[in-house]
Amino acid sequence: MQTDQRFPVGIIGSGAMGSGIAQVAAMAGHDVIVLDSNPAALEKSKQQLGATLLKLQEKGKLADAQAVINRLSFATDNNAFASCGLVIEAIVENLEIKKKVFAGLEDVVSASCILASNTSSLSIASIASACKRPERVLGIHFFNPAPLMALVEVIPAVQTEAGLPEQVKALMLQWGKAPVIAKDTPGFIVNRVARPFYGEALRVYEEGIAGMATIDWAMTTLSGFKMGPFILMDYIGHDVNYVVTETVFQSFFYDPRYKPSFSQKRLLEAGWLGRKSGRGFYNYAEGATQPEPVQDEVAGRKIAERILFMLINEAVDALQWQIASAADIELAMTKGVNYPKGLLQWCDELGADYVLAGLDALYDTYREDRYRASALLRKVGIERIKLIA
Ligand SMILES: NC(=O)c1ccc[n+]([C@@H]2O[C@H](COP(=O)([O-])OP(=O)(O)OC[C@H]3O[C@@H](n4cnc5c(N)ncnc54)[C@H](O)[C@@H]3O)[C@@H](O)[C@H]2O)c1
Repeated sequence: MQTDQRFPVGIIGSGAMGSGIAQVAAMAGHDVIVLDSNPAALEKSKQQLGATLLKLQEKGKLADAQAVINRLSFATDNNAFASCGLVIEAIVENLEIKKKVFAGLEDVVSASCILASNTSSLSIASIASACKRPERVLGIHFFNPAPLMALVEVIPAVQTEAGLPEQVKALMLQWGKAPVIAKDTPGFIVNRVARPFYGEALRVYEEGIAGMATIDWAMTTLSGFKMGPFILMDYIGHDVNYVVTETVFQSFFYDPRYKPSFSQKRLLEAGWLGRKSGRGFYNYAEGATQPEPVQDEVAGRKIAERILFMLINEAVDALQWQIASAADIELAMTKGVNYPKGLLQWCDELGADYVLAGLDALYDTYREDRYRASALLRKVGIERIKLIA
């Protein structure tokens, strides 16, 4: 990486993520060049970024919006990236298109320029394979909305030069972010560990154990999550949330732990994408009647615990497979998806043997591999050692 920490930063893709990352980099003092193949998207990004920065100034959260706006420029040609020290790609989630973009970038950027992808689900190794110098490629995964979400997953590929992830981590700290380092495996940390929040809630719903409003109530009121799984899936949109689940399932060689649900698939097929289409699990039409939760605390706690056990199992398994350090797994789930506490800490508080007994009971009932407890959880449960210091 260049020694001048205020090198220009290039952003490819001016959609939700690209615009957000551009704002973060410009507010951190970099000159930022935003590129998009669609001039209308670029113009929209320019207008929205200007308006957002001025609003931040009005609210007293930014001293000089115009100075930040002046650091932003917009382009439709790769040559604008010639002086960049870092280029972050945030275009459509398609491996072939991303590979083409990365190959094209190398013709214009300097030899020391770092190339990063904001992909949520693709392998960084395969994106890097499109480059002549794959050692300069890594994943820098921001969360939506990038200016507000502190977490950034830094993902080295097998080809990435040693030391580069640490340098990028230091840069992200300068940008005011909370960076973690994750292995280049499907879903990285957050999109892997969070899967049961949706998947197990859907399972409880599909089996008729409880309705969605009851499950949402149990997870928020009884377990302290900010949003229940069904409200959150509707908010994210089933076109995004279902596709992530399906991608993670396929990428994990069809491990039943990540199996998608037909209820959610049918919503997607019906075009009931959630909040954005006016209908998902819930109906967002004005005056629509909403289902009421059955506020039975004993039953609610049982449901919430079942989902929590599956989440904890996933976090412990991520630790066992060295996807990230214990501290980074905790940071990822509290800063990336705002969980009320780290899942490893939660496991320690409940007692690993208690969580293990809950999972083993589910396994005995269903005899499905989906409910197999992580070997590390079994070890911790038996030896009564703590997962985090
Ligand atoms: N939206 C999220 O919540 C989220 C969160 C984290 C990561 N991501 C990842 O970030 C990336 C972008 O997601 P988004 O939600 O901002 O998408 P988006 O659809 O809002 O924006 C993508 C932009 O890329 C542009 N584009 C497409 N192909 C291009 C090309 N070849 N060259 C230049 N520009 C091109 C499009 O015109 C569009 O403006 C994806 O890889 C996605 O998986 C998304």
